[in-house]
Amino acid sequence: MNRRLQNALVRAQERRHALAADEIAALLALTDPDDLAALHRAAYAVKVRHIGKQVSLRGIIEMGNVCAKNCFYCGIRAGNGAVSRFQLDEQTVLRAARRNLELGYGSLVLQSGEIESEAHTAFIERLLHQITALSDGAQGITLSLGEQSRETYARWRAAGAHRYLLRIETSSHELYTRLHPADHRFDRRVDCLRSLRDCGYQVGSGVMIGLPGQTVDHLAADVLFFRDHDLDMIGMGPYLPHPDTPLGRERAFTPGDAARQLRLGLNMIAVTRLFLHDTNIAATTALQALADDGREQGLLAGANVIMPNVTDTEYRSRYQLYANKPCLDENAAQCRTCLAGRIAVIGETILWNQRGDSPHFFARTAGSPGKRDLTDTAVDNA
Ligand code: 5AD
Ligand code: SF4
Ligand code: FES
Repeated sequence: MNRRLQNALVRAQERRHALAADEIAALLALTDPDDLAALHRAAYAVKVRHIGKQVSLRGIIEMGNVCAKNCFYCGIRAGNGAVSRFQLDEQTVLRAARRNLELGYGSLVLQSGEIESEAHTAFIERLLHQITALSDGAQGITLSLGEQSRETYARWRAAGAHRYLLRIETSSHELYTRLHPADHRFDRRVDCLRSLRDCGYQVGSGVMIGLPGQTVDHLAADVLFFRDHDLDMIGMGPYLPHPDTPLGRERAFTPGDAARQLRLGLNMIAVTRLFLHDTNIAATTALQALADDGREQGLLAGANVIMPNVTDTEYRSRYQLYANKPCLDENAAQCRTCLAGRIAVIGETILWNQRGDSPHFFARTAGSPGKRDLTDTAVDNA
């Protein structure tokens, strides 16, 4: 690593938002093992300062694979006739929510394909009331249900959801247009992020990493997008081809591609931690698809959230957004044991039975004392 990048790493550890776009791109492009170790070590130090050696868990319930959209990369896109579609009923979702509580995960995520209808909105609303009642509101509830009207977001917020994940997928308007059919609108997605914030959610977004045609400059712009939208949570992961999609059919994956995707994915986590400091960052399942210990590597590169699957095993294989999704045959209890062991091995502690809210959300809303350090405060006041 040259002197300029070494200095950039030191500066980024001291202050958030302290990297220029070209420095971010250069850090993302690092490949030398010593350089990667230095980058990840720097990011890990920032995580430990703001969050500790601690991991928050959110059990994810994949509620259904019906989706109105047709993203060119996604295995459950509407146009994929090879998927058998399912939608969990109220009791099945509630059972999984109860399981999540018993497993001690502290928060859950309700995810499904994108459906915009009054029936679906009301279904989610009913579920939210019931899930909230399970724990008297103690269990954190994140939604990941795609683009919706501001009214729908407001209704779900009022019914008990308090976090929402909506990945922008890429902050490049041009790349977004290439990866989606013409009726999928980048601008609407950005508007949705604003609506979510206005509704009082902790807002999460993120991108896919290593998409065809995506450069480190695109990814650097993504990191700046995270800052510009003042996000509370980042969920991002490597792009993985699915054979039954237009993008997945374009080019097969070689073992060399997998190593590159993993490296880029970890570098994105590290650089995002170094740039944003106090947001929650997930080590996503897509990392685990590329390496058995991919999520642990993500934690050591600066992530602090893992989202174990709590969906009934029988439905898991029908929710494959990409190929080779891990944990298809395991059940929630097995995943819990597996994960607890893996996190212990890297010397981190799981925050059992805690919501694990984003420190950044508290810092930006001054809702309760977030963990901040003096250098950050000095920057904020500048
Ligand atoms: N590879 C990696 N991630 C994908 N997603 C969808 N398809 C793929 C794929 N082929 C991600 C998108 C979406 C999230 C739920 O899953 O980023 O927002
Ligand atoms: Fe639907 Fe999301 Fe897949 Fe796009 S990425 S097809 S919106 S589930
Ligand atoms: Fe599911 Fe390891 S987390 S088996």
